[in-house]
Amino acid sequence: MQDLKNKVAIVTGSTKGIGQAIAHSLLKAGAKVVVSGRREADCARVAKEFSASGEAFGIACDVRSREEVDALFAATEKKFGGVDILVNNAGLGEFKSVADMTDEEWSNVIDTNLTGVFYASRAGIHAMRKRGGGAILNIGSLAGKQAFPKAAAYCASKYGLLGFSDALMQEVRYDHIRVCCIMPGSVDTDFGAPGKERQAWKLQGEDVAEAVLMVLNQDPRALASRIELRPSEPPQKG
Ligand SMILES: NC(=O)c1ccc[n+]([C@@H]2O[C@H](COP(=O)([O-])OP(=O)(O)OC[C@H]3O[C@@H](n4cnc5c(N)ncnc54)[C@H](OP(=O)(O)O)[C@@H]3O)[C@@H](O)[C@H]2O)c1
Repeated sequence: MQDLKNKVAIVTGSTKGIGQAIAHSLLKAGAKVVVSGRREADCARVAKEFSASGEAFGIACDVRSREEVDALFAATEKKFGGVDILVNNAGLGEFKSVADMTDEEWSNVIDTNLTGVFYASRAGIHAMRKRGGGAILNIGSLAGKQAFPKAAAYCASKYGLLGFSDALMQEVRYDHIRVCCIMPGSVDTDFGAPGKERQAWKLQGEDVAEAVLMVLNQDPRALASRIELRPSEPPQKG
């Protein structure tokens, strides 16, 4: 893909955190960006803040809803003429033991982190085929490779996402659609605990954004299909 000028990108869950950093980086690299999240007002606010850096547009979309995801793609095609890049970033966690987890909490995690990625990727493939190619970047997690207690739903969703991503990569590579799963360790966002104290040793959203740009900037003959991204010096245990 390399030259991102005038490419069209949708970043799900880009009203804050990692998604916001990715959307901003894509914008600064010349792409037209759709900012998305569940709340209309947040999407409009972030798109307005971004307007100094390029062409951004806010569209509310809950990725758990197939109708809303399809509408997101339809609105993007109407506004910008097509879609070249999809970043499946929207995600959340419910961190409690399996014994105590409700059906709703389980479904919330799986429907957002996994089924939402399916809905958006399917719509993205159809849109990208019309453009002759594109890129789908899935924001997984190191929790999709290494499980830990009180995170069964989250780990299941991210292990599942890694499998989905690897299979999809093989399905669409000859459509010139590049698929990569980026798996960060701890990133300094509100994830899991809004308003929590910032910790300097953690990754920043911008570090994940840099990995996204690296994949998009690779020569078309090469594809980083999985990236593990860790804080280089986390606190030592024991
Ligand atoms: N922070 C970490 O340590 C870390 C590490 C590895 C991977 N990740 C992954 O990185 C991604 C972003 O996490 P983050 O740390 O940036 O979290 P965050 O600060 O809580 O941001 C999450 C974003 O997703 C949106 N979102 C949540 N549910 C949604 C839904 N059903 N439909 C559409 N948008 C939804 C949120 O917006 P609304 O609430 O307004 O909808 C928000 O914009 C997630 O997939 C997460 O699993 C995070």
